[in-house]
Amino acid sequence: MSEYDLTDRPRRLRRDGVRDLVSETTVRASDLIAPVFVDATADERVPIDSMPGHERVPVEESVARVEEVLETGVEAVMLFGIPESKDAVGSGAWDEDGVVQRATRAVSAETDAYVLTDVCFCEYTEHGHCGVLEKGARSGGGLTVDNDATLANLTRTAVSHAAAGADMVAPSSMTDGMVGAIRSGLDRSGFEDVPVMSYAAKYQSAFYGPFRDAADGAPAFGDRRHYQMNPANAREAIREVRLDVEQGADVLMVKPALAYLDIVRAVREEFDHPVAAYNVSGEYAMLHAAAEKGWLDLEATAHESLLAIKRAGANLILTYWAETVAERL
Ligand code: PBG
Repeated sequence: MSEYDLTDRPRRLRRDGVRDLVSETTVRASDLIAPVFVDATADERVPIDSMPGHERVPVEESVARVEEVLETGVEAVMLFGIPESKDAVGSGAWDEDGVVQRATRAVSAETDAYVLTDVCFCEYTEHGHCGVLEKGARSGGGLTVDNDATLANLTRTAVSHAAAGADMVAPSSMTDGMVGAIRSGLDRSGFEDVPVMSYAAKYQSAFYGPFRDAADGAPAFGDRRHYQMNPANAREAIREVRLDVEQGADVLMVKPALAYLDIVRAVREEFDHPVAAYNVSGEYAMLHAAAEKGWLDLEATAHESLLAIKRAGANLILTYWAETVAERL
């Protein structure tokens, strides 16, 4: 017997039958967005080695791929494109007949999926950076992304996605001013009702490794530290997010998720907008690698990851686990 009267026993509410009644957080299939990779250079589905269960699909297979997602109960997809060819500015990103535009037209015409599109250039530029490059004074002599020249291209890309039928556009290039530019471009083109989900606090993270294989968007030189956020900074994330809110962002995304749950929570507390978290490729791959060795239970750790992200304050989660977890719910 303990030294004092043990009246408060949290264990009482942990038994089956009651634990769900008192659970504070749930993961629902309708909270999840499944990433889908569409590859204009492929004529059959190509598995992505570092992301087991995921594949690049040809444009012609995009509807079938999205149908598979819908069957699990997940209702939303994020389309990423691998273009037929790349150039210096990433013009394939805003091509009316580009890979995402074609896939979006097909998927929105033939399925009930809610279609989000990634708006960025790293898959479309030869150099793999998220915009147009500039050399000179502002970049200290080296090559960097020309922020303001990139804005116009982001806007035309987002408008071309909306014109193809995208339900929401998601700019991920961390270009200053991107949300405002895209918002006014969409409005000028009659897409006032298409929301913008901003990758508002996107960090320069080593957890993106497998994605860069998947989408063929690794930078050919240097890294993204002059436009993506420094992992050391939390207060700066609030400043980043506030700028996007002021520019009209509808949904605020934090990326990555698991290593940045403090940021998810801070954004949740500071703003009233829906908060999204991107449970990125590295966070997916590492559980698979450990499970393959028999060190972790794959489905249990996947579900626990999503629960943690929701508990931190995210309303929606972009995750490679979407189908796996939804099927189990
Ligand atoms: C491109 C983009 C990246 C991811 C999503 N969009 C890669 C990057 O910034 O290097 C990474 C997603 C993931 O790792 O799952 N702007």
